[in-house]
This record gives sequence, C-alpha cells and structure tokens, in this order.
Amino acid sequence: MLDHDVIIVGGGLAGTRAAVEIARTLPDADIALIAKTHPIRSHSVAAQGGIAATLKNVDDTDSWEAHAFDTVKGSDYLADQDAVALLTQEAPGVVIDLEHMGVLFSRLEDGRIAQRAFGGHSHRRTCYAADKTGHAMLHELVNNLHRSGVTLYDEWYVMRAIVEEGVAKGVVAYHIESGRIEVMRAKILMLATGGYGRVFNTTSNDYASTGDGLAMAAQCGLPLEDMEFVQFHPTGLYPAGVLISEAVRGEGAYLRNANGDRFMENYAPKQMELAPRDITSRAIVMEVRAGRGINLDGSAGGPFVHLDLRHMGREKIMERVPFCWEEAHRLAGVDAAEEPMPVRPTAHYSMGGIPVNTRGQVRSSADGLTDGLYAAGECACVSVHGANRLGSNSLLECVVYGKLTGAAIAEDLPARKALDIDEEKYIEEAKVRIQGLLDRQGGERIDAVRQDLQDCMSEHCSVFRTDEVMSEGLAKLQAICERAGRVVLDDRSTVWNTELIEAMEIESLVVVAQTILNSALQRQESRGAHSREDFPDRDDPNFLKHTLAYYSPAGVEIRHMPVALGMFEPKERKY
Ligand code: FUM
Repeated sequence: MLDHDVIIVGGGLAGTRAAVEIARTLPDADIALIAKTHPIRSHSVAAQGGIAATLKNVDDTDSWEAHAFDTVKGSDYLADQDAVALLTQEAPGVVIDLEHMGVLFSRLEDGRIAQRAFGGHSHRRTCYAADKTGHAMLHELVNNLHRSGVTLYDEWYVMRAIVEEGVAKGVVAYHIESGRIEVMRAKILMLATGGYGRVFNTTSNDYASTGDGLAMAAQCGLPLEDMEFVQFHPTGLYPAGVLISEAVRGEGAYLRNANGDRFMENYAPKQMELAPRDITSRAIVMEVRAGRGINLDGSAGGPFVHLDLRHMGREKIMERVPFCWEEAHRLAGVDAAEEPMPVRPTAHYSMGGIPVNTRGQVRSSADGLTDGLYAAGECACVSVHGANRLGSNSLLECVVYGKLTGAAIAEDLPARKALDIDEEKYIEEAKVRIQGLLDRQGGERIDAVRQDLQDCMSEHCSVFRTDEVMSEGLAKLQAICERAGRVVLDDRSTVWNTELIEAMEIESLVVVAQTILNSALQRQESRGAHSREDFPDRDDPNFLKHTLAYYSPAGVEIRHMPVALGMFEPKERKY
C-alpha cells in the first residue's frame, strides 16, 4: 500500500492550485497528485478567453459587489451567495498571485494586466493571455507543483475512491503504462477531476472529460448537486464542436443569421452578442429552428449561424484571438479575417457536481459532511454558478476554490490519522473488474455504445427540453446502460491499454448521464441553462432550491437543499 498525507485526484487548475496552497502552508506535508493524463494535458489547458477579477485596470468603477451581482443574476439566482461573495472578493488576489508565479497575462500599454469584455459581465474585468489563458496558467501551476515537491502519479487511472462509513481513506489506482494496481491511502482525499462534456456528442471538452470524479463520488453513495444544469457554449465551431472563445465576441465579433442580421437584437437588445451563454445558445437554436440557420453552401435552413470577425481586421484578430483563428482555419478551412466562422452551441461546462461547502468539504446530504473528503473545480458544486455560469468565472472558481480548499486541507491535516484499509480486499476487487473486462467475449464495441449514449443525451437533454423528450431519452438510456455493461475489448493486454481505460470511463459516463436526465426531469421550471418548453417560466416558490441526486444501479433518488441567499433578492433577468 502506498501512503501519503494528502491525495489529490486531478491535475488541472483546481488540483494543482490546491496542492501548491497545501505545500506553501505545510512544507513538510506528503502530498500526492494522481492524474489519468499528464497534468499539462488536463482540460484546463484548453481554457481560452480568460479569468474574471475586479482589478479595475480598464474600468475603475468596477467592484467585487458588481461582479457578485452579475454572477448571481447570471446564475438565475440559484447560486449560493456566500460562495459568490468569497469568489469575487478573492479574485483580484488570486490573479496577482498567478502573475507572481510567472503567468504571462496580456498587457495594457502601461504594463498592467489587460482586461476584456465577457458575456453577462457589466464591466470589462476578464484578464487574459490572448486566447490561451488556461495554457498560460496551468503551465506555471505545474511548474510550481514540481518546485513544491509534490509526488506526481501521472497516467494513473483512479478506479474508485475508498470511503467507508462516511470516512474517506484513499483510492484504488491503475497504472496505465504497466497495468499495476495500487491501493493508495491518505489522511485526506481531494477530488479535482474536471467535467463530463463527453456525455454529449458535440462538446468543447477533451476526450478525458468523462466525469470520473463525479461517478466515483456517486458510487460511494454521495449525492450530485444540480446536475440538470449543463452549459452549452454558444460558439462551438461547426461541425467539430471545439470552442471558439467568447473572447472573440468580447473583442467585437458579431453573430449573424442566414439573412445577415445580427439576430441577438431580438433576444438581448442591450447586451447583444455578450448576453449570458444560456440566452445566446437558445437564440442560436431558435434561429436555426426558424429556418434562419446556414448551410455549408451558404444557403438558408442549415444547422449553424455565422460568427463574423471581418470588421475587426487581421491585425487585431491575430493579436487577441490567434488560436480561434487557427482552429477555424485548420478545422473548417475558414480564414476568419476574410469569411465568417460557422458556429452552433456545444456542450461546454457542468454547473452541477459534487456538493461542497466553501471549505471544499464534500457534503453527504443537505446538512452532513463526508469526513476527510474534499473537492474543487468543475467536478465540484460550491454553487457559484447556479443555473448558468458566466464566462471567465470557471478559471476563477478553479483558482479561488482550489486555493481555499488547499488552505482548509492544510488546516485540517494535522489532526488527521491514516486509517486501516483492507488492502487485499480492494486489490482483489480491482483485479476482478479488470480481468472481467479483459476476458469478456461476444459483447459490443465501446465506440458504438458510447456514440449511442452521446447521441441520446444530445437528442434528449440539450438546450431545450420537455418531459416527453427527456422521458423517451431516459428509456433509451436505460437500454444503453445495460449495453455499457457488456462492452468487449480488442486489446487484451495490460500494457498501455487505452481501450481498457475507455471501458472504465464509459461506466462513469453512464452514471453521470443518468443523474443529469433524472435531475432535469424533476425540475419542472425553466431556470438558466435548464430550459423546459413545457414549463417555460422560472418557478421560485417551488424550485428555488438545489437538486441532490443520489445514484444507485437501481435508480436515482432526488432530494433538495436550500439556496444561500442574502445579498441579492431574486428578480426577473433582463439583458
Ligand atoms: O469562451 C471561452 O473562452 C470560455 C471561457 C469560459 O468557459 O469561462
């Protein structure tokens, strides 16, 4: 058995920022970080547009209170306002700290950090590194990880968390290169495994975003919070689905329909292209449904709209959003300085996740905590985003709550002990699972089952939803889940068997998909990204509350938890 004081699962921004905080506070702590990719390949590296913070470098009328208000309004009043206050108060400090670590932010003429406009934000407050902000941040954090003496288990797949009688004790991990299985014990376990975009067939997320941490928590009997709130980013490049950053619109690009009209005028006349994502994605889908979408030959009636950058000029495009230009050029054959880009909504972000308090401690129920278990970043739900996240608040959440969770772990660690684990039992269980997958005969190919699952979720739980469409989806999903339990592998080795990892990942996708659909079915209202055509209004008397979904193979049980209000009274959202 391998022993550490703290084990962090996940090498993206939240996990690395937490590790750095623990190491800064307790230099002698034995910290391990386990990730199924190298940390630099975590999906955080793909974040583009920026990180919000009221530095006031371009707008000195900005304030943390204004940032908090925009975030709560953007969330359709489902965010927990105590958590939002902390997020926005801590924001300037964490950005300056990143700068001191060496993050190469873009600059104003006078050398201060540049800030750009972003959707739903009332002031220009998004700090950025061109359109490669996640790349710039993650590289410095991983450098700091190495300097801090953190033990890195990269390319290890965590097969399960060990949580016994409400106490986290460690994990069982599989070394992808060698097939070795290890029980790793820790006094504190933290999950920072990112999102689940691969539940959908069109997503901006990388192939590794399969919701493993969420599934792991759910399989320990813990609830998942607000899983019905899936963010569809308005500008996924058609057809690939990769992200074309909101920064492109922040820098002045227009959305146009088949008639060439800037249609956002009809949906958000004040904010136009910089309306929050839920509103902009719905607007695009409505244009397409009305026959004002565009086909690849330029005719009307197609599946996408245009993102028009031409008036920005080549020089500005290449200075501010060079990566987006390059993506469109490489994947759609479009030179965005000369022609508009084809875009449509793409699954991008999970507002929901493993419920945590503002110290990152994982909730076991509305009023209980799981001893020794913490989580932060996209896999967690501290509920700063509620029903709809504002762009550039996710990097912020990773860094602020990565730091705060790291600080809480450092505070709690000295009082904790390593607990007994029946190592043999867990090794045997893991071996049986792996061997079962390797030995299985006559089942279905992973690709086919995963594709059907992704198609089912994209068809039945997308930007617009109804009871009928989702119920049909749930029935289909149940059949797909059974097939997922019968997948068969071509590669039967234990050396670098990526097919085996995919077989385990599909088990995560199944758990996550079921909690999303069940949570979405029970919320009979429209709020933020959850848009029910059969219940078009927000219903505060009945649904101003968080969903807690408890997964078990027999089904998903739904309970609820109150929202922390206090600063801003819920009112109608207008942009
Ligand atoms: O559009 C973007 O650059 C994405 C940013 C975000 O999701 O915060």
